[in-house]
Amino acid sequence: MTTKEKDILDNVVYNYSISTIQINEENRILKETVSKLKEELDKFKALPLMVAEVRNTFGKEAIIRLPNSNQFYVQVSKECEKLAAGDVVLADQKNLVIVKKIPITKKFDIESFVIIEKPNVPWHNVGGLDMQVQEIKEVVELPLKKPELFKKVGITPPKGILLYGKPGTGKTLLAKAVASSTNSTFIQIVSSELVQKFIGEGAKMVKEIFELARKRAPSIVFIDELDALAAKRVEIGTSGEREVNRTFMQLLAEIDGFNPLDNVKIIGATNRKDILDPAIIRPGRLDRLLYIPLPKTEARFEILKIHCKNMNFSKDADLKVLSDSMEELSGAEIKAVCTEAGYFAIRENRTQVTKNDMVMAIEKIRQDAEENQEYLEMFG
Ligand SMILES: Nc1ncnc2c1ncn2[C@@H]1O[C@H](COP(=O)(O)OP(=O)(O)O)[C@@H](O)[C@H]1O
Ligand SMILES: [Mg+2]
Repeated sequence: MTTKEKDILDNVVYNYSISTIQINEENRILKETVSKLKEELDKFKALPLMVAEVRNTFGKEAIIRLPNSNQFYVQVSKECEKLAAGDVVLADQKNLVIVKKIPITKKFDIESFVIIEKPNVPWHNVGGLDMQVQEIKEVVELPLKKPELFKKVGITPPKGILLYGKPGTGKTLLAKAVASSTNSTFIQIVSSELVQKFIGEGAKMVKEIFELARKRAPSIVFIDELDALAAKRVEIGTSGEREVNRTFMQLLAEIDGFNPLDNVKIIGATNRKDILDPAIIRPGRLDRLLYIPLPKTEARFEILKIHCKNMNFSKDADLKVLSDSMEELSGAEIKAVCTEAGYFAIRENRTQVTKNDMVMAIEKIRQDAEENQEYLEMFG
């Protein structure tokens, strides 16, 4: 063979092997497609599985209950994970062998969705707000503690109260304090969460929350950010709004449904009283409105003392003078000042908090508040 002939032959062999590779590749793709189509076809052929609830388990056998309430003693397939009563499973239609467990729990446990506690907030942890404390004691505490008094006098106490005012002024604190003083179960709902997290379930949640409240009475249902649930609506357009509205209607129904002398009280809180739907504050509902103001001079001093109680101050720190310089700060901000001042000391390896630490902290909290305000004006 000449070199030229050899070259030609090499070329042929090369081209041939290239096309073999291509054909193999095409073959592979076709096979894959066929197998995918077969899989799809199998899905169409497969019988649907039955959804059932496990009642009892006995090793690899179990008693299940079908939606029509018939019960069967069945086998559990080897691949199926360990089962317990209450699990929801898929079973073969013909022989009812349990194929697998699906992650649905039949019982929907309201207690894991709300904040429920027995708070321990003594009245002396609430600074200033003397008149407001007085009013809450009359409207919430007294009926819970002495319902017979109301019967004797022949009046019905309000079912609840609406606290309104700027953020951080102590609304939640007051609600917890009255729950403490009456030894009540405190059930807190954050309306915006109720609306966002439980789409389609909001109304049911409200119903269950009040059931829980009655079961755990005496109790206080604290509905925070009430405006998210009970805002005035011009017209109800989107399905989201309809859903919020259904939840709100359920809330009204629950409030209307219970007896004012049942051991359940409702405390609502909002910083947007202006946008509330008047339906919620109609007589017989949350008809007591209580404004929670920003603390004035004396109140600020009281609040500062509460939050400074355990702080180690140098002599130059005069709490009265400092509280005077905290105009317009809320209770929550006064508390934040104390923490910040403590950090200024820690950063300089001191264990004593000085007047200067406090002054710097006040400055910082004011700045934070201002920035927050600007942000809210831009995006809020
Ligand atoms: N009047 C007050 N007295 C004492 N502490 C207060 C007061 N107001 C607010 N605080 C502090 O600020 C924290 C947050 O206040 P919070 O009750 O949640 O305010 P709101 O519910 O009105 O937004 C409280 O836990 C408390 O430590
Ligand atoms: Mg609050």
